[in-house]
Amino acid sequence: MYPSTRSDREQWITEAHYNLFNLKSQQVFIDLLTDSGTGAMSQEQWSALMSGDESYAGSKSFERLRETITSLTGFPYVLPTHQGRAAENVLFSVMVKEGHVVPGNAHFDTTKGHIEFRKASAFDCTIDAATDTSLYHPFKGNLDIGKLENVVQVYGKERIPLIIVTITCNSTGGQPVSMENLRAVREFADTHGIPVIFDSARFAENAYFIKVREKGYQNRSIREIIREMFSLADGMTMSSKKDGIVNMGGFIAMNSQALFREATTFNIMFEGYITYGGMSGRDMAALAQGLEEATTFGYLESRIKQVHYLGGLLREAGIPVQEPFGGHAIFVDATRFLPKVPCEEFIAQTLAIELYLESGVRAVEIGTLLADRDPDTRENRYPKLELLRLTIPRRVYTRTHMDYVAAALQNVYRRRNKITSGYKIRYEAPIMRHFTVELEKIT
Ligand code: F0G
Repeated sequence: MYPSTRSDREQWITEAHYNLFNLKSQQVFIDLLTDSGTGAMSQEQWSALMSGDESYAGSKSFERLRETITSLTGFPYVLPTHQGRAAENVLFSVMVKEGHVVPGNAHFDTTKGHIEFRKASAFDCTIDAATDTSLYHPFKGNLDIGKLENVVQVYGKERIPLIIVTITCNSTGGQPVSMENLRAVREFADTHGIPVIFDSARFAENAYFIKVREKGYQNRSIREIIREMFSLADGMTMSSKKDGIVNMGGFIAMNSQALFREATTFNIMFEGYITYGGMSGRDMAALAQGLEEATTFGYLESRIKQVHYLGGLLREAGIPVQEPFGGHAIFVDATRFLPKVPCEEFIAQTLAIELYLESGVRAVEIGTLLADRDPDTRENRYPKLELLRLTIPRRVYTRTHMDYVAAALQNVYRRRNKITSGYKIRYEAPIMRHFTVELEKIT
């Protein structure tokens, strides 16, 4: 929140065991840990809060939310949940069983966690271009249909309960999936009779990229593009904390009444009654309004251009970043930034710590810590990309903040050759370790 000195930050990061999740927000100057739940609500959303109907069943606020979601996506059945991972928990409780294989494009960590927790496995079928940060491809979130085909050949379609398409694909850099690719996945899924679910946290940003990058969509409205995207899926999970621009919330929406009925039981057990699912009426009212705002071109353009402004500054400074820039964040290629730090010493985490020490800017590691250990061998999984994510909250920071972040990272870049060692683990949880891991500096 406030500027601090380097010696303050040295003390705080040591006390935090070199895990930036352990820092207090007061110890952070600019917080780029996540865009999740960190956006600023508009005055219309705040006024919607005041109209919240807190009826246990059948509240007006739920009705408005359901109507908004159905009109945006076309899905008639909606179940609110308290956040995105809760939506995954409810839906996977119905769909994912031990021994199943769930292909997708670089599943988000909670998604993979909920799959592996059920003794099933997640299979990454993202196109190879996604892992070459210097290569231009307008849709690095795309799935490789050949890889999907291979999963079906090896495991058989009976073991594949669903295909998950994450729009935009967070783990490869907030990278979009093209309409052409969504269509190809749909055709593939229809051939094999496998349902397609979109992990939709940043669906509006995905629609923006289709409009500005995909041939034939320039004159289509964001709303039309969203409708077409979701016409290619059987259902969706949603973390409303991103493109819903609320601080908390999520939902599932789907076409099938049978699936809805099965999911309601788990929703009632884990989340709450089917017309609130862990959300207050007022929060559902603010979410309905947020979804309306997030699906306008004007909002999306100013949001994504701010992210790209930061990316442009870093690129000009010669800092290696995932290109083209994605929607919610700029992803720095930590392996190219710090070539002297060995991968066993957590390169992207080392860079996150250096940036914090330099400037009080908190970013997040998307690398080996996040990738966890292989559930069978317990060996570290080394992902193809070691990334530092500079995640931009919605409607919070100004261009001057972006200038500060870029200058800070440039300072670290200038002394990069002096950074030759990283960290080792002193404590880790068995799954999703990056949130609570404790590290020690290697000297
Ligand atoms: N799916 C995607 C693509 C996500 O990015 C997230 C969360 C979730 C699902 C889970 O949603 O947090 O509401 O439970 N991403 C945040 C991030 C945490 O920082 O990228 P949640």
